[in-house]
Amino acid sequence: MIRRRQFASLLLTLAVAVLCRSHLEFVTVPDGPRVRRRLLLNVASWAPAAPIYARGQGLDLSFLDPKAPPDVSAPPKDAELLPSGLATKMLLRPTCALSKSIPLTNPDCERPQAYDKVLIDYTGWTPNGKMIDSSRNEKRLVRVDSVMKGWTEGLQMMAPGESRRFWIPPDLAFGSNETATTKPTGPLVFDIELYSIQRQPKPPAELSAPPNDAETTSSGLAFRKIKPGTGKERPQLETNVTALYNGWASNGDLVLSTSFGAQDTFLVREVPIEGLKEALQLMVEGETRRFWIPGKLGFGATADESRGLPPGLLVFDVRLMSINS
Ligand SMILES: *[C@@H]1O[C@H](CO)[C@@H](O)[C@H](O)[C@H]1NC(C)=O
Ligand SMILES: *[C@@H]1O[C@H](CO)[C@@H](O)[C@H](O)[C@H]1NC(C)=O
Repeated sequence: MIRRRQFASLLLTLAVAVLCRSHLEFVTVPDGPRVRRRLLLNVASWAPAAPIYARGQGLDLSFLDPKAPPDVSAPPKDAELLPSGLATKMLLRPTCALSKSIPLTNPDCERPQAYDKVLIDYTGWTPNGKMIDSSRNEKRLVRVDSVMKGWTEGLQMMAPGESRRFWIPPDLAFGSNETATTKPTGPLVFDIELYSIQRQPKPPAELSAPPNDAETTSSGLAFRKIKPGTGKERPQLETNVTALYNGWASNGDLVLSTSFGAQDTFLVREVPIEGLKEALQLMVEGETRRFWIPGKLGFGATADESRGLPPGLLVFDVRLMSINS
């Protein structure tokens, strides 16, 4: 039901927008874990870099929310209850087994690993039917192990094309202590549709600190030899090399990878990470090593995370393919 006052304020905003010859768009504003829906007044001609939010805190647009499904209050009898306490029900079969006669366990049904990324669409409700979050049909790419426990478990059950409803107990969501978090607490219900899986290289187990058996150079760079090489020479700063590498931040984010478009042929001097520059000069052709690069040899302790530069430890698996000149 559209309440009168909300409707009136929406009309007013639209009128203001038209008068300003600006355009209106719905935006989802990341607000901690929740995503607030706000009507964005983009007054391009006045202040190109500074969009203003309608009425300060934004309009309450909850009357536009999709209606909660009837079974959000508790899992129905035909929902599957997993040992963790997560309950789930398939709403749409995956593309690999669209027909009921094809088993969901068939080899075409690929499911993500915890470290893979998935493209999803989702909407969440509290058990009393209040919508708490939604991707609003804008697909989101998330790493399976970077979200709440209930999602991490649930997403790994899904194959592309599949849609599921999950009833998530508080301990697999954001807990039940309201004062400890700004996130919605208590049991939550989510509908998730999985579109595709983006495979990621498997991250090393030791992402937060080098293991005890790692060797360390005088600069603080730690490494472990994984596969010996065949070459005798080591690259210098002016050497042109070809190397394959995957680099992770300590939170598990893949930050730089030749499997995802990072440059594989370059001069050692041009490498923007000091620790990686040193690392390459330790290696011979054909060799593979794992490096733990401390923050001071990485992007620094105060790196700009918004630019995708994680502060702190970086872990790089590097294979020196060839020394070109
Ligand atoms: C809830 O969280 C607050 C703040 O972190 C804490 O002080 C309080 O002890 C917690 N309550 C319970 C019941 O755990
Ligand atoms: C490095 O060598 C490759 C091939 O040997 C060449 O294509 C590339 O331009 C060189 N890069 C630099 C920065 O010299």
